[in-house]
Amino acid sequence: MFRMRFNGSLAVGLLLLQAVFLLVLYSRQNMPLSRTEDKEKVHLLILSSWRSGSSFVGQIFSQHPDVFYLMEPAWHVWMSMFQNSAKVLHMAVRDLVRSVFLCDMSVFDAYMPRERNVSALFQWATSRALCTAPACKFFSHDDITNEKACKTLCGKYPFDIVEQSCNTYSHIVIKEVRFFDLKVLYPLLTDPSLNLKIIHLVRDPRAVAKSREQSKKALSRDSGIVLSTNGTRVDDSQFQVMQEICRSHIQIFETATFKAPSFLKDRYMLVRYEDVVQDPLREIQEMYKFAHLKLTGKLEKWIYSITHGESSGNKKEAFVITSRNAANVSQAWRNVLPFEKVKMIQEVCKGAMNMLGYLPVDSATDQKDLSLDLVLPRKQYQFSWV
Ligand SMILES: *[C@@H]1O[C@H](CO)[C@@H](O)[C@H](O)[C@H]1NC(C)=O
Ligand SMILES: *[C@@H]1O[C@H](CO)[C@@H](O)[C@H](O)[C@H]1NC(C)=O
Ligand SMILES: *[C@@H]1O[C@H](CO)[C@@H](O)[C@H](O)[C@H]1NC(C)=O
Repeated sequence: MFRMRFNGSLAVGLLLLQAVFLLVLYSRQNMPLSRTEDKEKVHLLILSSWRSGSSFVGQIFSQHPDVFYLMEPAWHVWMSMFQNSAKVLHMAVRDLVRSVFLCDMSVFDAYMPRERNVSALFQWATSRALCTAPACKFFSHDDITNEKACKTLCGKYPFDIVEQSCNTYSHIVIKEVRFFDLKVLYPLLTDPSLNLKIIHLVRDPRAVAKSREQSKKALSRDSGIVLSTNGTRVDDSQFQVMQEICRSHIQIFETATFKAPSFLKDRYMLVRYEDVVQDPLREIQEMYKFAHLKLTGKLEKWIYSITHGESSGNKKEAFVITSRNAANVSQAWRNVLPFEKVKMIQEVCKGAMNMLGYLPVDSATDQKDLSLDLVLPRKQYQFSWV
């Protein structure tokens, strides 16, 4: 009797379990659909560092018709308070980022004159949303935009248009290079008014250093802030800023993986720039999936053209992305950097390189031998968190 009852309840239990399982399957299949239907908001932070391919990855998001994108809005914070350290400015930067995610652009009142146009915003023309309708009537909403054309036509609209435009989008994407500690972002991750996701974009420190050397002057004020020099510009010939950057990558990666609190689950994604240039479409599809965005045919064509286009030479401007063979560009440091410098960078960035799968070289010969692959395949450095 007892046995019968037990079996009976077991059967009922199994049925229930099956039902729950089917329900889960069903809701999983339907989640993406209902997501796009009611346009659940996504707030995506591309967390990176200077010269790490973040302008490129930023563009990948900016050009998507569901995305309102701003590139480094916290530049305004740093420029207004350049005598402070990165650490002191963390909170103001976080507050600004939060406000922008919520499309509250009044936060810029603290850093700009009240009477201002769209063009007052740092790198505004990298934002397709600010270059197309409804922000700018000269281009239609899903046009692929270019900075130059946008700058000549779209900069004179009153600043209010930024907030109005932002409010029409489901996805707000911000690229920032001014966070050096993931814990600073915890309050945003637990904030019920936000649905924050973080793409942590890293790049081989030697490639970063090479690129930084080419834009030394443009970076010198920011470098001073990183090293707390009270407003003095720094050229980083000893790679102290590089050291800080590498330290922050370790901190962010470790905090998000081995030590991750539960609220970080499904909200953190590590991306290596080298993987993006190696197989752009695969990586972009994964990033879009993470951000709940769909890849359109138009975007796919555009991505192909910017990653396979003709080289348009060595652009001097610090923040331009151009059509060029991106995969080749990521190896350029091997022919350009003197081995002595490579050794210094490998020394200050040892931990980060080891963690992220970048192999050191022991000689100038190995450095220049492009048949040696110095980037470990993705699988070998990724852990069970993926
Ligand atoms: C903003 O643009 C208008 C033209 O629409 C121009 O008259 C004005 O001077 C601009 N203001 C600023 C602060 O650039
Ligand atoms: C920082 O610079 C300002 C202006 O140059 C100066 O007044 C101040 O005393 C400096 N502070 C420190 C701690 O050196
Ligand atoms: C890539 O770089 C290598 C070495 O710098 C060069 O020989 C090759 O022609 C380049 N390929 C393209 C497609 O630019």
